[in-house]
Amino acid sequence: MNEKQRHEQNQIKQSHASDQASDERNLERLKDKTSDDFIKYFEATYEPPNLRKAQKRGKQDIQYHDDFEIEEQFRDLGVGKKYLIRTYGCQMNEHDTEVMSGILEEMGYEATTDQKEADMILLNTCAIRENAENKVFGELGHLKSLKVENPDLIIGVCGCMSQEESVVNRILAKHHHVDLIFGTHNIHRLPQLVQNAYLSKERVVEVWSKEGDVIENLPKRRKGQIKAWVNIMYGCDKFCTYCIVPYTRGKERSRRPEDIIQEVRHLAAQGYKEVTFLGQNVNAYGKDLDIDFGLGDLMDEVRKIDIPRVRFTTSHPRDFDDRLIEVLGKGDNLMPHIHLPVQSGNSDVLKLMGRKYTREQYLELVDKIKEAIPHATFSTDIIVGFPNETEEQFEDTMTLYDEVGFEHAYTFIFSPRDGTPADKFKDEVTEDEKKQRLYRLNDKVNAYAKEAMKKYEGQTVKVLVEGESKNNPDVLAGYTEHSKLVNFTGPKSAIGDIVEVEITQAKTWSLDGVMVEEAVEVK
Ligand code: SAH
Ligand code: SF4
Ligand code: F3S
Repeated sequence: MNEKQRHEQNQIKQSHASDQASDERNLERLKDKTSDDFIKYFEATYEPPNLRKAQKRGKQDIQYHDDFEIEEQFRDLGVGKKYLIRTYGCQMNEHDTEVMSGILEEMGYEATTDQKEADMILLNTCAIRENAENKVFGELGHLKSLKVENPDLIIGVCGCMSQEESVVNRILAKHHHVDLIFGTHNIHRLPQLVQNAYLSKERVVEVWSKEGDVIENLPKRRKGQIKAWVNIMYGCDKFCTYCIVPYTRGKERSRRPEDIIQEVRHLAAQGYKEVTFLGQNVNAYGKDLDIDFGLGDLMDEVRKIDIPRVRFTTSHPRDFDDRLIEVLGKGDNLMPHIHLPVQSGNSDVLKLMGRKYTREQYLELVDKIKEAIPHATFSTDIIVGFPNETEEQFEDTMTLYDEVGFEHAYTFIFSPRDGTPADKFKDEVTEDEKKQRLYRLNDKVNAYAKEAMKKYEGQTVKVLVEGESKNNPDVLAGYTEHSKLVNFTGPKSAIGDIVEVEITQAKTWSLDGVMVEEAVEVK
């Protein structure tokens, strides 16, 4: 970092510190005030998603902190109390829940899955589509009776929805049983926020629209001991015209390579068998660092670590570079299944979506990957019914699906999101037509999934055994290198191991099999 950058960083540090201090002072003043005061406070401190401003956000002001600590005064706040976090949305949210659980457990809280015995319930929300938000509002409705039964219960809303002004206003106006609202950039403030929620008779709202911090040493309560999520970057700068994520998650911030490597080494030492690197656009990893180090370089480094499986999600086709393809071609612990969202098979629609690649470029990339990794398999995300998508344009998506031969896809009907450019696009396509397209696409997705599974019948595959099958405790379940779910018979002692399973029957979404006995050595 040069002198100028250091100077800028110091200035930003100071201004962030004073932001935080003034937030704390404001919250202090608001104790025992009415919800109108809170709305006023919120309006004064909250910045709604703003495309122009967000796109101009700086690259230089990323701060790294290794000094997270739960202050003495908050450490016993949860002793004798139980918490429950409901998680909606993507893996990023799943992992944030692990961090919040880690923080709460260091404050003395214990986890519960029974909402009746919970002293605190947090909804970690997703804003990606309208139905995701409706689910949360539905759940908030259900929680109301719980609060009536137990007035001491703290109900909190966090995650991506709490970064939206309209959502926060709606909760403040209509859901009086919500005690706490905090944003995706405020997770590390949880101890203070929980204390404020206990002390205050009114709602506590803290949503920082500023971002730029990477906090390294937050505690984590991981959800299993076999597979682990590892954030490699936060935020997204792609600004696809339909998408809310760049506003709810802030700008792209990469973690330092050494911190990531150290986390993976630590997980390997603890016996984890698989890590998945997380980011909204992992291929942009490293672009904001002041060293020349990208996702390909990072993957090459983790290849040397003794952890059997490494995956990454989500890839953006635009930034999927040759270095990454070359490294993935080396195989080893780098898994050969690639999730590569295409969104549409028509170049004009892709342009309107702001995806910054054409149909042809996407297909070229897939070919290049297939050449370097012949056994690679692909899955994707697709949006149908983007404003004014024509029948022909939709057909392009259908033919692209055939050309790539995806093994799986997540398919969605376009959902307008407040504050995004596509929200303002006029749209002549009827909802019914959009649904029909989705059904047609889903028929194709199912047919390809079934065919992909069929290929495995009679084959022996390597399965990382995660535990007993959900439906039958006598059956074990795990995933193949290509991320296929396998249910099979085998000894419970195999849980946590990678074993060979012979596939006896393929279904549409899973495989059945039997574990191959290890060959008995004959002397
Ligand atoms: N960062 C990832 C995915 C983020 S969201 C990527 O760029 O691929 C997961 C998926 O939700 C997206 O790939 C997209 O298919 C879908 N999605 C996002 N915004 C949407 C919207 N407004 N309406 C419908 N689907 C949407
Ligand atoms: Fe959204 Fe596009 Fe960023 Fe993915 S790359 S999170 S779709 S803006
Ligand atoms: Fe949803 Fe936020 Fe993830 S909007 S998809 S939870 S980044």
